[in-house]
Order: sequence, then C-alpha cells, then structure tokens
Amino acid sequence: MKLTLIGGGGVRAVLFTKSLTLKAEDAGITKLVLHDTDEEQLAIISKLCQIVIDRSGINLQLETTTDSREAIKGADYIVTTVRVGKEWSRYVDEQIALKHGVIGQETTGPAGFSMAIRTIPVLMEYCEIAKELAPQAWIFNFSNPSGLVTQALRNAGYDRVIGICDSPSHTKLRMAEALEIDPKELEVEFFGLNHLSWMTKVIYQGKDIMSELKNDPDFTSRVDEFKMFDTDLLKSLPFLPNEYLYYYYHREKAFANIVKSGMTRGQMIAENNKEMLDILRKMDIESNPDEAIQTYLYYTQKREASYMAIETNSESKPVLPTDKLELPNSLGYAGVMLDFVESLQTGETNNIVLSVPNEGSIEGFADNDVVEISCIITKDGAKPVQIGSVPEEMSLLMKNVKLFERLTVEAVKHKSRDLAIQALTVHPLVNSYSIAKLLVDDYLEAYKDILGDWK
Ligand code: G6P
Ligand code: MN
Repeated sequence: MKLTLIGGGGVRAVLFTKSLTLKAEDAGITKLVLHDTDEEQLAIISKLCQIVIDRSGINLQLETTTDSREAIKGADYIVTTVRVGKEWSRYVDEQIALKHGVIGQETTGPAGFSMAIRTIPVLMEYCEIAKELAPQAWIFNFSNPSGLVTQALRNAGYDRVIGICDSPSHTKLRMAEALEIDPKELEVEFFGLNHLSWMTKVIYQGKDIMSELKNDPDFTSRVDEFKMFDTDLLKSLPFLPNEYLYYYYHREKAFANIVKSGMTRGQMIAENNKEMLDILRKMDIESNPDEAIQTYLYYTQKREASYMAIETNSESKPVLPTDKLELPNSLGYAGVMLDFVESLQTGETNNIVLSVPNEGSIEGFADNDVVEISCIITKDGAKPVQIGSVPEEMSLLMKNVKLFERLTVEAVKHKSRDLAIQALTVHPLVNSYSIAKLLVDDYLEAYKDILGDWK
C-alpha cells in the first residue's frame, strides 16, 4: 500500500518516517511518497528519511516528487502537512495579531485564521486530485488549524478526510509518565474542538480518577500540558483542559509573556530550522549519516524542549549538543494516524481522538460540525463516542469558535472580506469588530500574492 506525505519536505517528515518504520509492516504500508513544492528542502529531508528506513531494516520503498498528481495517484493513504507561505508566514501572522493587541498563535485566534485562509484553497486542490486519482484514499489532515481546515474540506464534500492532532495522545503519555504507569493502562475520553477540548474521563484500573488528578497540584505540576494552568482553575473546572485552552483561560498572561520576551514561537522555530537546514545543506548527508541524524535530532529536541516556553514564561529544557541523541521509539506525531490505519486493516478496534463530524455525539451541535472527540475505529472508519450534554460554559465557548470556523470557511469560499471580519469578530480571542477589521485588512494585504483579491 502507498502512503503519500504532502509537505514531505517539512522538518517533521523524518520523525514521521521513524514512526512509520515501527508500524508500516503491521499496517501493510510498503511505499512512502514524499511530496513537496520545495525541491531543495525535499532533497535534504528525504535523505534523512532514507537513513531512518535503512537503519530500521524494514521493506519500505521511498520516493520523492514535486508533482502533486504523481504523488497522489493510486495512494491508499494521504497525509497533509502543508504550510502555505512557508515559515516566515507564521511569524507574519503572529506579528500582525500582536500589533493589534491580540494573541498571535498559529492554530487559534487571528494567526490561525490567517493560516487557514491560505491553507484551505491549497488543500481543496489536493483533495480534488485525490477524488480523481485516488478516490478510495483516506486523507489525514495534520495541517493547522487542523479542525477548521477539516471542517472546510468536509463542507466541500470530501468525506474521507479526518483531522489529526497529536495533542490528546501526547497528553495521555505525559500523564502516564507522571503516574509512573504504562500508558496502555490509562483510558481517556475527550470532547471539544481541536485545540479547544477537555478530558472528561481518565479510567485507571476500572475507576475514573479524573477528578482526583485535576485536584492534585503535585500531579498537574508534573505534566507539561497542565502545569501552566492556575491550580485553582483546574480545581474549579469539571474536566482537565487541553493545553491550548491556556490562551483562553489565561489570555492576558499569554499575551504579556509573548510581548515581554520580544520573541515569538514562529520566529524561534524559523531560526531553529534555518540554522539546521544551513548545516545540512553543506553536509554530504549520505557519507555522514550519523552526523546528519545527530544534527537533525539536536535541532528537533531544541524545538520540542521550548514548546510553549515563551507563552508561559518558562525555561526551555537544556539540550546539549554533545549528548548522543536517539530517534524516539514512540509513535509520536504519526501514531494517531497509524493506529487508525491498523484498525482499518486488522478490524481490531482502537479508541483514538480525531476531528470528525459530530453526528449526534455532543448535544447542541449539528451532525456535520467537525468536533475533536474520542472515536471508536473499526474496519469501516471512525465513530464518535456518545458524549451527550456538556457544561454550558464549554458548550458556549465551542459554539463561538465553531461559528468563527463556519464563517471563515464561507469567507474563503466567497473571498469575502465582510464574512472574514464577521468571523474574527466572534472569535473569543478577538471579540471586537474594529480589531477584526484591522486584522483582516492587514492579513489580506500581507498575503495578496497568495490570496488574490477579496471583495
Ligand atoms: C502540538 C500541536 C500541533 C502543533 C505543534 C506545534 O503538537 O498539537 O498542532 O503543530 O504542537 O508546535 P511548534 O513546535 O511548531 O510550536
Ligand atoms: Mn495540534
């Protein structure tokens, strides 16, 4: 079976390949195609991916192409991880938001809006090609803002698109680590929207320990995803929050920390990746596989060790260039998708968190509202678990953001400035018509070459 990674020249493709080597045989995947429009970066990254495959000893054929039709033709699985406008655009998105006094975050709020309006049209084109050349393929959308982009693709009728985020599964791993137990012993349940979700249940040895955990500062301070929240907030909330809710529950702190640091996450990542690629570009990667992989791992760990450090005003964990670094043996970023594929192949059910249409799961939401939710995966695909009614404060927040998403999808469809302003006006991180208008003007101006004319 053929798996195509769109955006395969991205720096995360190497970790993706590593995860794939751990599960490709079980999942029946024999060919990996890396597709990217940046030929030079694709050449560098694919050499690293080849080293990872060679070292794994598995039978996985690697191909690269800049041609989207060739990449997609006959694919069984397609993963999309694109950044339209490249890394500098993340920085621009953040700066424009900050200039108008609101948080710039690539997945939520105005910067996420800007990323979405660039990403949706491009992914529509890929889906159209898939409809023609790989109609049976499942499409896993990793591109941020993942939930919003998945909503747009579903609305356009691409019903084999699944939105994926590694955050829920990652949180479960960190929780198991803090509890010093095997993650397989923990069963969690999530509901919400992507990067706006809550964990309703944590089952351990047949008992729901969620309430116990959220009320225990000793536990929450040991989990990266929870330690930035006020412990009183965690006690008062009925459920444990996804880490991105930090931008909502502690909005002014996040904003002040970013401003104080004089740096943004986008800027930091762009510099980190540029430094790495400059070194790799000069290196004969095939003759120096160890050195190349060590360089890659050093910059990858630096990026991961500083995750949310700026926003939460915390120290990055030190990464020493002298350490002998290893590629992780966990499935990480690609794991959610590979669990899904495994269930489709073997029929063995899996419980995973995905962005899929609500279909009656959360009360008060339309069947076709894409939500991020625990799903049971079988040979036939994903079915959300039944959540039912949810606390009003959560339902209201989700509704605001869902309305923002729907308006954004319509704004892109009609290239409408008015709809774009309406969308940002209702977003809880903007919540002002006048700011929304300034933001839309600036984003459309900054990206007029990519977006064309909006009326
Ligand atoms: C988490 C989120 C992803 C996001 C990534 C960004 O894994 O779930 O959606 O892309 O963090 O991290 P970065 O290192 O790029 O800030
Ligand atoms: Mn995510």
